Amino acid sequence: MAKVKFFGVESIPLEMHKVRIVQKLNLPPIERRLEAITEAGNNTFLLRNADVFLDMLTDSGVNAMSDQQQAAMMIADDSYAGSATFTRLENKLREIFGMPFFLPAHQGRACENILSQVLVSPGSVVPMNYHFTTTKAHITLNGGIVEELVGDAGLEVVSAHPFKGNMDIAKLRQVIARHGADRIAFVRMEAGTNLIGGQPFSVANLGEIRQVCDEFGLMLVLDASLLADNLHFIKEREADCRDLSIREITRRMADLCDVIYFSARKLGCVRGGGICIRDEAFYRRMRGLVPLYEGFLTYGGMSVREMEALTVGLEETMDEDVINQGPQFIRYMVDELVRRGIPVITPAGGLGCHINAMEFVDHIPQARYPAGALASALYLVSGIRGMERGTLSEQREPDGSEVFANMELVRLALPRRVFTLSQVKYTIDRLTWLYANRRKIGGLVFTEEPEILRFFYGRLAPVSDWQTELVARFRQDFGDSL
Ligand SMILES: Cc1ncc(COP(=O)(O)O)c(C=O)c1O
Repeated sequence: MAKVKFFGVESIPLEMHKVRIVQKLNLPPIERRLEAITEAGNNTFLLRNADVFLDMLTDSGVNAMSDQQQAAMMIADDSYAGSATFTRLENKLREIFGMPFFLPAHQGRACENILSQVLVSPGSVVPMNYHFTTTKAHITLNGGIVEELVGDAGLEVVSAHPFKGNMDIAKLRQVIARHGADRIAFVRMEAGTNLIGGQPFSVANLGEIRQVCDEFGLMLVLDASLLADNLHFIKEREADCRDLSIREITRRMADLCDVIYFSARKLGCVRGGGICIRDEAFYRRMRGLVPLYEGFLTYGGMSVREMEALTVGLEETMDEDVINQGPQFIRYMVDELVRRGIPVITPAGGLGCHINAMEFVDHIPQARYPAGALASALYLVSGIRGMERGTLSEQREPDGSEVFANMELVRLALPRRVFTLSQVKYTIDRLTWLYANRRKIGGLVFTEEPEILRFFYGRLAPVSDWQTELVARFRQDFGDSL
């Protein structure tokens, strides 16, 4: 992809695949979109897909599959126990990560449940570069404490730092000194750090963390859900790895870890998950939870068809041309938005483009959920479904007070190989219009607030009739356009 230079036209990311199956899209008129977002309680998770034009909510389980993955699904062996499909998957994981043991699970958070139940107890501490929503929920549910140790650059919205997902080693040492090594359940590094904008960490940083873990006898766990993007950035940005293949970089990272777990909804472009483990005794401690919560040890809640597709998807992740597509489309989008003065997280990461709502709608206080309001407004003016990643995605303190997020982001995920460049350009266009009309956007208040993971199914209402005014302005400017 990157190696193709253009002669006359603008330099654009060039797909190294062609489309062979398509899904028809529907773009309802803005008046229907207003009804739809109202019915959804201004929560984009609660929109029905029939009302959505471009679904940029997530990349989870919605990346495009390859013809080879689809073909592999036809040869799945659906025996309950001892399936040949499982053996093929296990062998592929051993080949790629070099870890002898594998436990399948139905998705990433199921792995987190198992790991947390076995390793986390009341008062134990899990240092990590940054939390992910489900990770934190499982750790705290088991009485643990999350310590976020991402370097300062990780929380800067505008930055040129190539590895914003790096952990600050000095902070790691301080946390160990403060709590004592015996209270550390494990150290967790998240590849393609989701909640700070899909930002990678470097192999060098992982190596430093390994040294500290060795010094204090700690276990190092890698959340590899977004590994594909992280691998791309390492290859592109880390001088020591430039001449290594993606497979070699993967192995170099895996060799530094004790456990690697992943959501296969992201890594491998299917629906599933699993935990790769180096130590047999530890594998045995976790093993019992798989039949209890997931399914027998040779499928763990996954469909065998998905497992076959995962085996192929993992192999395809080792292909630069496959994993380049997402980050290059995202970079195009980010660069175009920056050119138009629209606040986004830089440098462009993986997973999606992250709009900085704190600045986009700087007139909305955090208590009125600026990122939630912006996600609602963007759907209204475009039919594009993004995801709030800010204060709404946090959980209240036990005393009921709000936890204000470090960043207020609207994530526009670009599931891998799903959207075309013209759809990306449409998104840029509607964001540009919305930015010019941003003062019309108002805040949101909860009308129904669940206690756990409220962002998934909580309902909110606008604080004024700002949405109707936005619709009127849209009609003024766009006439009868959808
Ligand atoms: C980094 C990370 N870890 C864990 C998970 C949880 O995975 P799943 O959605 O498959 O449960 C996700 C999902 O988005 C993720 O991005």
